[in-house]
Amino acid sequence: MNRKVVSGNWKMNLTWSEAQTLFKDLTSELSRQKATCRVIVAPPACYLSGLAALKSSDISLSAQNCHQEPKGAYTGDISAIMLASMGVEYCLVGHSERRQNYGESNELLSRKVNALLASKVNPIYCCGEVLEQRKSGDHFKVVGAQIAQGLFHLSADEFSNVIVAYEPVWAIGTGETASSDQAQEMHAFIRKTVAEKYGEEIAHSTSILYGGSCNAANAQELFSRPDVDGGLIGGASLKCDDFTKIIRSHG
Ligand code: 13P
Repeated sequence: MNRKVVSGNWKMNLTWSEAQTLFKDLTSELSRQKATCRVIVAPPACYLSGLAALKSSDISLSAQNCHQEPKGAYTGDISAIMLASMGVEYCLVGHSERRQNYGESNELLSRKVNALLASKVNPIYCCGEVLEQRKSGDHFKVVGAQIAQGLFHLSADEFSNVIVAYEPVWAIGTGETASSDQAQEMHAFIRKTVAEKYGEEIAHSTSILYGGSCNAANAQELFSRPDVDGGLIGGASLKCDDFTKIIRSHG
């Protein structure tokens, strides 16, 4: 599996008409010149089946969230089984906006990961420290705990389906990107943590993405670092030109 990935996270943006235009533009750009990385987009859930119907062989679809239970009386929620039944291949888990706005804990996220793997949807597991934690030097401890508590109950086989996204919360939507040294340092730490649990081979094949004000101007520098396998892109994934430039930043 190609370790290089660029994923867009559209968050709660775009009308249906805008979403279709963006998806179609991306599709034609990628059919003109193939990407060297896997390309994933995570639109709002209500657009997933409509975009799946547009059938782009160069773009995989991701949800932004799912419920931990397979079905039941959970008004407004969506299960992993439902995502799988629409051909959705990936799902974000534990984005910092959900951790902060909905109090999602590592324990809850571990159950969402289980639900996704049971439905053969690949989790994109998000982790990252807030500014105070970085300032106090706790960032490795925080990210290490997020990964261990959310993922390390998995078997090695199960873990090999997980993508990890490191998104320092202080860099999300702020225009303040982590330096490529800061990103590399944390990504190397994450890979080492995975290696200690699952061995070198699995750690070597795990995709670890960077997210947080990653854009067309800084992606190449970030992706050039040995443990930065690509990006999880918010704002800059909403414009076809910018997102394409980020995809092309992979050599
Ligand atoms: P921005 O790229 O807008 O900073 O968002 C990053 C992010 O949260 C992706 O999931």
